[in-house]
Amino acid sequence: MNVLMASSEALPFSKTGGLADVVYALSKYIAKNCKGDTMSVVSPFYGSINKDKYKFKLLYSFDVKMNWRKIHTDIMHITYEGIDYYLVKNDNYFARNGGLYGYYDDGERYAYFSLAVIELIKLLPYKIDVVHCHDWQSGMIPCLIKERYHNDTIVGKVKSILTIHNPLFKGYFGVNSLYDFYGLSDNLFYSGKIRLDGQVSTLKAGIWYADKITTVSPTHAYELKTPDGSKGLWYDLILRQNDFVGIINGMDYKEFNPLTDKMIYFNYGKKNFAEGKRKNKEAFCKEFELEQGKPLFSVVSRLSDQKGLELINAMADFVVSNGANFALVGSGEKYAEDYYNALHMKYLHNVRVYIGYNNEMAHKCYAASDFFIMPSAFEPCGLGQMIAQRYGTLPIVRRTGGLKDSVKPYNYGINNFKDADGFGFDNFSVNDALKASAQALMVYNSRPKEFEKMRLNALKADHSWTKPSQEYLKLYQELNERK
Ligand code: GLC
Repeated sequence: MNVLMASSEALPFSKTGGLADVVYALSKYIAKNCKGDTMSVVSPFYGSINKDKYKFKLLYSFDVKMNWRKIHTDIMHITYEGIDYYLVKNDNYFARNGGLYGYYDDGERYAYFSLAVIELIKLLPYKIDVVHCHDWQSGMIPCLIKERYHNDTIVGKVKSILTIHNPLFKGYFGVNSLYDFYGLSDNLFYSGKIRLDGQVSTLKAGIWYADKITTVSPTHAYELKTPDGSKGLWYDLILRQNDFVGIINGMDYKEFNPLTDKMIYFNYGKKNFAEGKRKNKEAFCKEFELEQGKPLFSVVSRLSDQKGLELINAMADFVVSNGANFALVGSGEKYAEDYYNALHMKYLHNVRVYIGYNNEMAHKCYAASDFFIMPSAFEPCGLGQMIAQRYGTLPIVRRTGGLKDSVKPYNYGINNFKDADGFGFDNFSVNDALKASAQALMVYNSRPKEFEKMRLNALKADHSWTKPSQEYLKLYQELNERK
């Protein structure tokens, strides 16, 4: 069976968020463990790709027809870790100075990408059985297959999956885009099939037309069917609920491994984690000029409202004024960056802030910290909490989406430390967030045995891709058998 992932970002070539990690890790896992399956990824060739490091070969050149435009397209190919990457190259659309998204013509850019994917499927020497699409950027592909290419002997037979990583971004565009970009009729909008909030939504198109829909944790799949938790998608997802499942993401066990990680100060595993964590914390506090001998709470995150900034702010101030250190690596909303810089000025030797993304400091932070703060407003899956556990660092999470599915919270009342591997609270409230932080401090200060056991539980938590990739494979097979 041949599966093609269509994604607007994929490691090791491009990344703004967890989507890039998932596409790469899941493909790698399937390519390695499932002999006989061809796993390929199609993604844009962005200007930021390191062309010296990765030697691409020009595989095909063709024109993509977008209504009256004919757009020259090169397909650049590389095989990397068992995955065939096909990158769609048109510098006018993708080699821009700046980030991957957020341009005035994003609708056109990803319409072009989607049409180029269809052309690629026609050209490949092997038949694609399943195309696995991700988020709004490739949401139109299932619609194109069923509305424009259903009679095509190759494309018409391809089955499709849409995975929703972030329901906030709907891919809203004007009605004209349907004909202008895709050569599709306005009727698709007027009939309501791809209309959301009075606009064309490419995410909704994926929900309506994909043969299967997934999201990245079972709890988020449930939330997406409720008016409160769905960001406006509940109605459409309830209509498709028989073909909709939540599969929790795994994480890359090779990149994040305290036993072999070259970026941390001292390697450790389940046998010597107490010593390992202590040494990492000491070295971290020394390097970043934090007072020694205190519990360390940390955040590694994009600073966006989704991540629960108000709660992070309150928790940081609370733990530091109760005798802890706090470290943060991240960037995003200006008001949040200002807040953390000010917090550092207020507690010079107890707060350390790095505005930006610093991979090495992030690794050191995961290894050195006692607690990892992640009180998201919503979190389809989340990766930071899993990485933290992998390093024996206890996450403190708001129990939403994947955070609920991956952390077993400590309960003070029943003292369930034998099973717990983190702390959690349900409501998005400062009061509850501070209560959970207070519990973490209490366990650290007065229940050292419980604390050690919980760390060990975290180190033992299984967040590998083994099980999730098997679930995806089952889905692919199920679709492939549907004729
Ligand atoms: C999005 C979600 C995050 C998830 C990631 C990968 O970034 O916000 O929760 O982990 O996608 O699926």
